[in-house]
Amino acid sequence: MQQTAASHVQRSSPDGNRKPATALRDNGLRFSPVTIALHWLVAALVLSIIAIELIGLVRPDADLARFANLLGALLFPVSVYRFWARVTSYHPLPLGTPNPVEVIVSRSVAVGLALAMVLLPIAAWLWKSAANIPLELPGGYVIPALIAPDRAAAGVLRVLFDVGSSAFLLGLALHLFGALKNHFVLKNDVLKRMLGKHVEL
Ligand code: HEM
Repeated sequence: MQQTAASHVQRSSPDGNRKPATALRDNGLRFSPVTIALHWLVAALVLSIIAIELIGLVRPDADLARFANLLGALLFPVSVYRFWARVTSYHPLPLGTPNPVEVIVSRSVAVGLALAMVLLPIAAWLWKSAANIPLELPGGYVIPALIAPDRAAAGVLRVLFDVGSSAFLLGLALHLFGALKNHFVLKNDVLKRMLGKHVEL
């Protein structure tokens, strides 16, 4: 029997269980409003943290660093939920007539970004704990250390964090390139769908 886009709406889980479409879960036609809202919230928080880190390289500022820690602390639980939602929901069908390799790469990058958003804060938290660097927040609060200070562990964790964050930045650049190429060169509705536009397949 021919599979229609509408039948994907019912089969919203990649584990094959038939689940009714809800406003909270992605389905074959669209990203849910929750996915869209959290995607742009995370994008705003990540880009703000990156901007603050870049400013800190030129002009170190303890208040800004504390603010970046606060944004990271807010981002972490949202990222855990988003990664879980990404791997347990159906990813909406690609638009137009996309190259299958590009679909695989773009989806792998998206899942990689979602996973990195969970692993990188843990790596940073472990590294700063091992290096005995307090994770200060605005208002005099401090995020408790995860492990006891340990110079050797701090060195290894720092390398892991640097490698992971470089891969993340590369993936993010690819992700942005893909979004802009779809919008401005291929002129399809990929970006508009992530902005909430109802798209017919
Ligand atoms: C201004 C920056 C960004 C733009 C323009 C953008 C654009 C997009 C677009 C158009 C899609 C839909 C792709 C499709 O239809 O398959 C998408 C999905 C996705 N993006 Fe982004 N994105 C941005 C930033 C980010 C950031 C910072 C992250 C994570 C760190 C991220 C993670 C994801 C993920 C995981 C998906 C899959 C859907 C989901 O689970 O949310 N994006 N993005």
